[in-house]
Amino acid sequence: MCGIVGAVSTRNIVPILVQGLQRLEYRGYDSCGVAVHSAGAGAPPGELRRVRGIARVADLAAQCEAEQLVGHTGIAHTRWATHGAPAVANAHPHFSLGPHEGGRVEPDRPGRVTLVHNGIIENHEALRHELTARGYHFSSQTDTETIVHLIDSLYEGDLMAAVQAAVKRLRGSYSIAVVHRDEPQRLVGAREGSPLVLGVGADGKENFLASDAMALAGVTDQIVYLEDGDVVDVQLGKHWVCDRAGQRVTRAVKTVQAMSGAAELGPYRHYMQKEIFEQPRAIGDTLEGVQSVVPELFEASGNHAPGDGAYPTFQSIRQVLILACGTSYYAGCVAKYWLESIAHVPCQVEIASEYRYRTSVPDPDTLVVTITQSGETADTLAALRHAQSLGMRHTLTVCNVATSAMVRECKLAYLTRAGIEIGVASTKAFTTQLAGLFLLTLALAKVRGLLSDEQESARLKAMRHLPVALQSVLALEPQIIDWAEQFAAKENALFLGRGLHYPIAQEGALKLKEITYIHAEAYAAGELKHGPLALVTSSMPVVTVAPNDELLEKLKSNMQEVRARGGVLYVLADADSQIESGDGLHVIRMPEHYSALSPILHVVPLQLLAYHTAVARGTDVDKPRNLAKSVTVE
Ligand code: M6R
Repeated sequence: MCGIVGAVSTRNIVPILVQGLQRLEYRGYDSCGVAVHSAGAGAPPGELRRVRGIARVADLAAQCEAEQLVGHTGIAHTRWATHGAPAVANAHPHFSLGPHEGGRVEPDRPGRVTLVHNGIIENHEALRHELTARGYHFSSQTDTETIVHLIDSLYEGDLMAAVQAAVKRLRGSYSIAVVHRDEPQRLVGAREGSPLVLGVGADGKENFLASDAMALAGVTDQIVYLEDGDVVDVQLGKHWVCDRAGQRVTRAVKTVQAMSGAAELGPYRHYMQKEIFEQPRAIGDTLEGVQSVVPELFEASGNHAPGDGAYPTFQSIRQVLILACGTSYYAGCVAKYWLESIAHVPCQVEIASEYRYRTSVPDPDTLVVTITQSGETADTLAALRHAQSLGMRHTLTVCNVATSAMVRECKLAYLTRAGIEIGVASTKAFTTQLAGLFLLTLALAKVRGLLSDEQESARLKAMRHLPVALQSVLALEPQIIDWAEQFAAKENALFLGRGLHYPIAQEGALKLKEITYIHAEAYAAGELKHGPLALVTSSMPVVTVAPNDELLEKLKSNMQEVRARGGVLYVLADADSQIESGDGLHVIRMPEHYSALSPILHVVPLQLLAYHTAVARGTDVDKPRNLAKSVTVE
């Protein structure tokens, strides 16, 4: 999704801005741009200059070089279109030139204020109307352009003051970075509902802004995480932050770990492939140090008050409410089966974007569990806040980013250690989420007296075996490639599963549609005859997740229903399930596994199937069309 980088420095910041955008590229974007306070040959010094395009950041870099863009203060952006199509005119940075200076920005008459924005301004139409009436000229269809004109209209010689006044008029979510022509060494940022960090540079020579600390890897590891309502004044060697009330506040400077190595592909062709193959390591890291199932495992956020930790919380709650989106939602659906069958805790799983707007019946004795790889998904954060506003105070997140808003806002946290996930299609985040959720199930069971010492050690032993079992599943790749070659020519597919593996079928279908653009649907296999069976013909591949569990015989009947209509089955089966390959029936044998954990293993062939089908179809695996890695807008 959109990315922001900004810098004030004694050196030329154009390469820093471009490299920052390159580090954010994985999130997905459709246009990009840079604007600087010019110090180069191409324009009078002190003029604002910008370069924008709808190609990749590498092309933007070449354009900056060709146009000799040089500057010491500037901002840059990758845009994922919401208001207005992907087009140069809609790309950020946007300019404003007040009516008193002619209003209309022309190539030879650049702006006096320039701005980049992540988020959505909900009252943009009213603001556009008002600013147009005051003589401002709009050159884009974006909601963003209203902010830059608003700031210009409020400017009286102090950019910080103008931004503070402007944000009071905005409704919606934003993180912004702004530069004014008349204040060459000043960058002002603000955030509300969308992430923004300040990077503190070395020796008082430079400071930075970014929507993600990762964009600043290589220039600084000293990061200040700004809070909602903050406005930050960034200058050479100094900075200060004011909160929503306009009071100066101190926000802690944190040292973040270097992240640059994680972005290397190594021997892999795509990040998704690399991340699929990292799963044994990711699960191993996630479970590292887990000697026993103690509630303290869930206190990673350090946010709980004394007496309000995981143990008393797990003891007092009567039910679990899981809130998540996309792949993380399917992890929650698997956890529901575990929580109800092992810990005997009633569990409800809700799509965050639905929950936040529906009227529900709150129960204060609920443990609200959010699941999110990024910890910045706007819908999931809003759903959490909605649950809190209804009086549900027991909050826990299963999250992959320790510094994210979600970890900061939940009392309890389990941090998955998947490592940075770059491919838009989530893989290792999902399996590590499942590992964390299984531990949560065991912890709740233990606190409720439902897990004996023997059961605890047997289940932990099974978890510790997961990295080895995952290696055996990854070794099935050549067989999956054979399947993928057959799928590449298809335009539709069905996925079937039952019980714990129904959400795995759903996740398999999501992976396939997301990166191959093949239309894929998942059904609980028993539902087949209630409608979807009408779709089954000899050209419909039907992927079936068929472990040898208590529902296998039922599932076999469902498979017969498919075969009887000429459908072609692709089955993930256990060695002892007595399902053999034959006419219209392709079987891959899964390695031996502990049944409760089998979702963690069965999803991997489905990830590989989607990956190799996408490669065979020649799609952009890591950056599928229209999608973004981190969905920070509603
Ligand atoms: O960062 P989150 O886990 O909150 O993201 C939720 C979804 O946007 C995400 O899982 C999405 O569905 C993935 N692209 C699926 O592969």
